[in-house]
Amino acid sequence: QQSLLNGAIIACSALKEVYRIILMDGINNVHWIFLDGDYETLNQRLIARSDHYMPASLLKSQLDILELPKNALRINIDYSPEIITETIVNYIASTKLGLIGLGVMGKSLALNFASKGIQLSIFNRHVAGKEEGIAKKLVTENIELQYAKPFDNLTAFVQSLELPRKIILMVNAGTAIDELLTELVPLLNENDVIVDCGNSHYLDTTTRIKKLRKNKIHFIGAGVSGGEEGALKGPSIMPGGDLSGYNYVKDLLESIAAKDKSGKPCCSFIGADGSGHFVKMVHNGIEYAEMQLLAEIYIILRKGLLLNPEQIAAIFYDWNKGDLQSYLLQITIDILRKKENDKWLIDDIVGVALSKGTGRWAAHAAVDLGTPAGMMTAALFARFNSEKNSDAQSIATFNLNEQKATGTFEINEIAKAYQLARMVNHHQGFEMIKLASAQNHWSINVIELARIWTNGCIIRSTLMEQLNEMSLVNSSKQYFSVLAKITATAMQSGIAVPALSEAVNFLNTISSDDSPMGLIQAQRDYFGAHQFIRKSDSEKKSIHIHWK
Ligand code: 6PG
Repeated sequence: QQSLLNGAIIACSALKEVYRIILMDGINNVHWIFLDGDYETLNQRLIARSDHYMPASLLKSQLDILELPKNALRINIDYSPEIITETIVNYIASTKLGLIGLGVMGKSLALNFASKGIQLSIFNRHVAGKEEGIAKKLVTENIELQYAKPFDNLTAFVQSLELPRKIILMVNAGTAIDELLTELVPLLNENDVIVDCGNSHYLDTTTRIKKLRKNKIHFIGAGVSGGEEGALKGPSIMPGGDLSGYNYVKDLLESIAAKDKSGKPCCSFIGADGSGHFVKMVHNGIEYAEMQLLAEIYIILRKGLLLNPEQIAAIFYDWNKGDLQSYLLQITIDILRKKENDKWLIDDIVGVALSKGTGRWAAHAAVDLGTPAGMMTAALFARFNSEKNSDAQSIATFNLNEQKATGTFEINEIAKAYQLARMVNHHQGFEMIKLASAQNHWSINVIELARIWTNGCIIRSTLMEQLNEMSLVNSSKQYFSVLAKITATAMQSGIAVPALSEAVNFLNTISSDDSPMGLIQAQRDYFGAHQFIRKSDSEKKSIHIHWK
């Protein structure tokens, strides 16, 4: 019994995949070894063995039905028994996947992989006095990681991995990655695969892919969304880079990803270069605007309708049962209900919103692309504005709260305004991705992208599931006046609504046939000869005129 728990060797002729599936049933960590020989060699050996139960005459039919195992170590039987044994022992002792960086996200990913029966080597750097024995501690403290091999020596870590090596990086974006790669790459072999699962800048990822391609090492930039819980239970994964490299890690990544409603993994190859990290960056831009819209709706309900957090949570709870359902709405309900000493915690949180990087990068990229992503930009600047909100002197000096008008708000109208603004946000984000995809020849399948964002990630929602069938035009026709009314009333009531008003302005701009932008073109041509196009010119030529 005990020796079986420690492992067993089964020598068999499991010729078909279905037989092998049956043999593996209920067993973790199966290593398949395929002893590969041609007909002639096998036949000679069979004939030479007098006591073998299988007559040599059956060999041909056996080889005919053989389905080559895909995930097996293949060893040619021409090698000596010593070499074959050594190869097998090394193979079994090696692990399937390496993970570098055992912070909150790295640890959660390690636990997720381990729960899928994937043998891991885990590494955390050694920093005297600060980060010591992190990997060992993790293995000791988590029974789920009992089969994982812990390291703080990078060379030993690399040597413990099966070839081609597959290594996940979960370290801080930026120089930390490049410093690590400087140490790691010389230890690797051709065809090894590195997957950066952090929030790296997509241009850095493109540079790393190109640089490592020269060493014949695959570098995959994978956006991972879902926070700590997602990493542990199933994140949404957005890998980009070279498809040939991705194929080595596809099964591993898919095994830990969240599943969509039909059971398909929320992990799909996005495209070449840093496209995986690009879409993750836009995801976070959309996330910023979704969070900002919720904050605006909350304050409209709080200040405009004088509801308390519990009452607002009850309204959100109701909304969350229908088309407005989303993960962010769900966590907002929990947040609004949180009380300490009979007081709502939300009232005790300093109203200055910080940002780490991806939201800024998204706004920056939108500017570089020249795409109208005003919602995410407004949400980012709302965070910057909020720093002024803690400035008591500024509040006292302006004293605008005294002058506020009182408007009326209807809860069902607020819901409709919120939904339409969300649609503008998603529309802008997806347009940004389409533009970048076209410019960079990434061929991103946005329908598939929306699918892998239906679960696991922070912006998962019913809207994301419906996005394909939704029409911004139809929804605008139905709800635009309500959105404009709620936004205007909020502004008159002294409530800042930068994201809602951006949605109104965007819809007003794209639907208006009396754009004033011709005036801008005229001014540019007036002082700088920048040229303009006449509506009446069928050839649409750019011209400059003398204005005086
Ligand atoms: C996710 C989150 C994650 C992280 C953000 C927070 O998709 O899992 O977006 O990536 O929580 O980076 O960003 P800020 O600190 O800038 O708000």
